Amino acid sequence: MSLKVVPTTPTLGATVTGIDLANVAAGDIEAVNAAIVEHKVLFFEDQHLDPEAQLSFARQLGEIDVAPFGPKHPDFGEMTVLDQVAPKDQGADAWHTDNTYLPCPPSFTILQSVKLPELGGDTCFADMYAAFDALSFELQAFLCELTATHDLTKTLKRAIADGNADVDLASMQQQWPPVHHPVVRVHPDTGRKALFVNGNFTTKIDGLTSTESEAFLSMLLEHVGSPAFQCRHRWRVGTLTMWDNRCVQHYAVPDYTTRRVMHRLTIAGTQPTGPAA
Ligand code: OGA
Ligand code: MN
Repeated sequence: MSLKVVPTTPTLGATVTGIDLANVAAGDIEAVNAAIVEHKVLFFEDQHLDPEAQLSFARQLGEIDVAPFGPKHPDFGEMTVLDQVAPKDQGADAWHTDNTYLPCPPSFTILQSVKLPELGGDTCFADMYAAFDALSFELQAFLCELTATHDLTKTLKRAIADGNADVDLASMQQQWPPVHHPVVRVHPDTGRKALFVNGNFTTKIDGLTSTESEAFLSMLLEHVGSPAFQCRHRWRVGTLTMWDNRCVQHYAVPDYTTRRVMHRLTIAGTQPTGPAA
């Protein structure tokens, strides 16, 4: 089988066929790595991997990062299970990057659909290189000098309140204190600049007053959601989607009321996000 990659939009996303992720052939992982660099989000349809096969595919892309909170698969502790019927305000229905409260946030997220509502539950993705490139040169130069604070508190409080995290807030805050990441991140593989603030974890642009920070953050977070940088994915059961958190944000559309089950793995980042760009 040879890999076929069909782009979703000129900006980001691609459907990949001609590959069986449960039995990857020689050269397939290199091809997947090359495709993700180019398209930033990959959709592999009709894969239907069991947890073991999803884990074994993921391990070939890097080290599995076990999320410190969130519901896990009973037999595979590295795997988060998203099992939702009322997704509104559960956290993924905001533009975000995964787990940026970590000093070294995950590079990839690998999500497979197991059960879907008949309609709805799409996921939107946005290209953060394009979001950066669309800003004026003057604003780019200003933002490149800055870092921002990322904190798990808001998202974790909500997960605890919803029964999705059986952990103590104070001890988690102690274990994962706020971290600082550049507002504009240089991607380690491409050297390109990507906007790196998100609605779930970024609480403050460092060095600005609260009023200034709120104004810039709300402007940037609105900019991130522009349809010009997006693709929208309609899931089929057994599709495995992989995205690069270093240059992509995502948004889970909360428009369904019947069960949606997803199996999720994250791959650890290989290096800190670095100083301001
Ligand atoms: C995630 C996430 C989106 C979705 O797994 O990090 O945000 O559509 N998922 O479930
Ligand atoms: Mn997410």
